[in-house]
This record gives sequence, structure tokens and C-alpha cells, in this order.
Amino acid sequence: MVQITYKELGLVNTREMFQKAMAGRYAVPAYNFNNLEQLEAIIIGCIQSKSPVIIQCSGSARTYMHEAMVPHLVKGAVEMMKALGASIPLALHLDHGDTFELAKSCINSGFSSVMIDGSHHSFAENIRLTRQVVDYAHARDVTVEAELGVLAGVEDEVTAAASHYTRPAEVEEFVKRTGVDSLAISIGTSHGAFKFKVKPGEEPPPLRFDILAEIEQRRPGFPIVLHGASTVMPEYVDLINRFGGRMEAAVGISEEQLRRAAGSAVCKINIDSDGRLAITAVLRKIFAENPGEFDPRKYLGAARDELIKMVRYKNEQVLLSAGQA
Ligand code: G3H
Ligand code: 13P
Ligand code: ZN
Repeated sequence: MVQITYKELGLVNTREMFQKAMAGRYAVPAYNFNNLEQLEAIIIGCIQSKSPVIIQCSGSARTYMHEAMVPHLVKGAVEMMKALGASIPLALHLDHGDTFELAKSCINSGFSSVMIDGSHHSFAENIRLTRQVVDYAHARDVTVEAELGVLAGVEDEVTAAASHYTRPAEVEEFVKRTGVDSLAISIGTSHGAFKFKVKPGEEPPPLRFDILAEIEQRRPGFPIVLHGASTVMPEYVDLINRFGGRMEAAVGISEEQLRRAAGSAVCKINIDSDGRLAITAVLRKIFAENPGEFDPRKYLGAARDELIKMVRYKNEQVLLSAGQA
């Protein structure tokens, strides 16, 4: 596999992005991608809304695209940006890296930022693993995100989930001992499209802004990351259900809470599920209304257009990163 640095690809790490986001009280969007159409849509949506952006892929997304393909796809995205006459800060980030070897492989193939997710390990092992990745990454000017606390699963009752929330007292020690650049915390968000089990008419439990405030107080100016932050956009869930899908119980984080988070120490907000929903909604509608359609450009192109709209909307109305590039 080709060895290449992120600087050769025309990317930046997240350090300056986060400094500016902290000062400007917005969050940099981190959109997951798994294929060409998603990548193009994220870049074009962010160019159109003049937003800095983190494009991120998980280990399994990298395998899906093939690890040798990813740097070339991203180089292509940078070239497309230049051809469009645009220049926005662009970082390539490993989402939920789980081993040192994976983080190292990504760093050596053009990633400018990596997450090492040791949140399921003991505190001591999380520190050891994170420190190992930080040492390797910082020697190459790559930034590192770690995680402390475990995101609530959909099965957890609110009270049970409380035991997984990030403990502010641990944040100070963790950051000091690892030298990590940013930290994903658990304050009530959760991954996927079914974030909470709520009865009809019931509101999902609010995020624990008190925990976030205490972390901010103990470690002022330190960049915090919010995972599991899709709003699970009702218009897409409705379309999916209308055209043969079964996602009635899907529920996400409210826009109002995300705007509040973006105005705090939260400098990066992760969005994967909403992108998946947008694509699925468009495909279901097109196939239901045009059973004879079999040109992928027609349906994948339409999905890409919808994703561009979604990215612009998020940047402009929710993360408030629009106009900051
Ligand atoms: O938080 C996880 C992301 O949504 C990536 O999911 O591992 O299915 O690519 P994935
Ligand atoms: P969502 O599932 O809420 O989009 O969260 C994505 C995420 O946290 C990726 O790391
Ligand atoms: Zn995540």
C-alpha cells in the first residue's frame, strides 16, 4: 500500500480547526463516508456553505472501500475542490480506531487525525493505549481524539445509563497523562437511528449539560467531541416508512441541544446516521415510484444531491460552522 502523508494529500490536522471553533462558538462537522457519492456530497455541501470539515471513516468503512483506495479517493476530492475553485480546511479522520496498529496504518496512508477509542478498556489501559497512539501521531503532526465514558445504548434506562457518563474528575488526569488533542465524552448521546426508547408523545431524556459544564470548568479551552449526534431527521424517517421501510421507532438528538453544544466546548460533532437515512429515503422513493429505473447514476445521483442539501442545512442551522472556512 502506498505510504503518503496527509500534507502531501493537501489536508490539515484538526488543531487549528478546533481552536477556531472554540473561539467562534461553533462545531466542526464530522461526516462519515463509505463511498464516492457520500464523499463528494460532503465536500460539495461544505464548499457551498463555506464550512471547514472533517471527513471520517471507521475501520470497517475503510475496509469496505479498500484501505488502498481511501487516500486516492480523498486526493480526488481535494482535486475536485481545487477544480471548483474552492479551498476549505479538510481533515481525514479515523473514526473509532480500536488498535494501535490500525491508527498507525491510517497515519501512514494519509489520515491527518485518528480516534483511538479505548473507552471499553479500564481507565489505566485506555491511558496506555491512547498515550501510545499520541506518541506515534504527534511525531508526524497528526492529531488524536480519545474517548472517556461509554455512550448509552438504546437498551439502557436513563438511570442505568448514568453510570456510563464521563466523570469530569477523570478527564483532567486522562488529558494530562495522554497528551491527547480532543476527547469524546458521554453525556447522553448514542449511536444509530434508535437512540432512545420513548413512548408516543414522550420526550427523549435531555443531554447532561451539567457534566459538559464541569468538564469545561476543569479544563477550559480543551476541545470536546460529541458522538452519536444525528438528529434522525423526521422527514427522512417519514419517507422511509412511507415507501416500504420499517423505522417507526427511530429517534435522535434535538437540533436545539446540538446548537447549545456547538456553542460550548464541543468543537466536533459526528454525523453518520442522518446521512444513511437521507440516502435510504431517496433510494426507497425512487425505486417505489420508478420500478423500471436501473441506471445507478439516476438514483445514486439523486441521493448525492439530497446529501448535499442535508450537509448544508446542518452546517447552516445546527453546527453553525457555515461561513467559517
Ligand atoms: O460510530 C460509528 C459510526 O457510525 C461508523 O459506523 O462502523 O458501521 O462504519 P460503522
Ligand atoms: P450517529 O449514529 O448519531 O450519526 O453518530 C455517528 C458517530 O458518532 C460516528 O462516530
Ligand atoms: Zn461514534
